[in-house]
Amino acid sequence: MRPILKNMSNTTFTMIKPDATGKGYTGAILDRMIKAGFAIKAMKWTRLTKEQAGAFYAIHKERPFYGELVDFMSSGPIVAAILEKENAVADFRKLIGATNPAQADQGTIRKDFAASVGENAVHGSDSDENAIIEGNFFFSQLERF
Ligand code: RTP
Ligand code: MG
Repeated sequence: MRPILKNMSNTTFTMIKPDATGKGYTGAILDRMIKAGFAIKAMKWTRLTKEQAGAFYAIHKERPFYGELVDFMSSGPIVAAILEKENAVADFRKLIGATNPAQADQGTIRKDFAASVGENAVHGSDSDENAIIEGNFFFSQLERF
């Protein structure tokens, strides 16, 4: 058996958000991730309930945009995935670009596929610790390869 916590810093977690799945961008966004060198360790097409979206983003509970964020993230299907690459968390944040697509660099996923700060196409973990917590939110060990 592979040790589960080995190579922690080589793993991140992503979601393709409801705006992007709804516009038919799922395949193009996955292609960007794969071409950037991220390997898929786990993946699913699903839809969050309001309760699940609220729990996932509980860290933002006190922020003014929390209600909107929960409504949006439960408004349609998402793709959740665990991705592997050296320096995964930082490299993936670079690939997706700034939270607000208006401030995202050219060639980033948010620059090319996101419409606004609220509907910004993709999620990417912000730390190794959160990558593990977020991956565990969606996937059992039996769903990782
Ligand atoms: P994410 O967690 O989704 O990858 O995004 P992020 O790290 O770039 O941004 P974060 O600060 O964690 O915010 C989480 C999500 O909340 C929405 N948001 N709206 N209206 C606003 O000012 C605002 N700020 C954040 C975004 O959808 C953001 O991705
Ligand atoms: Mg975040």
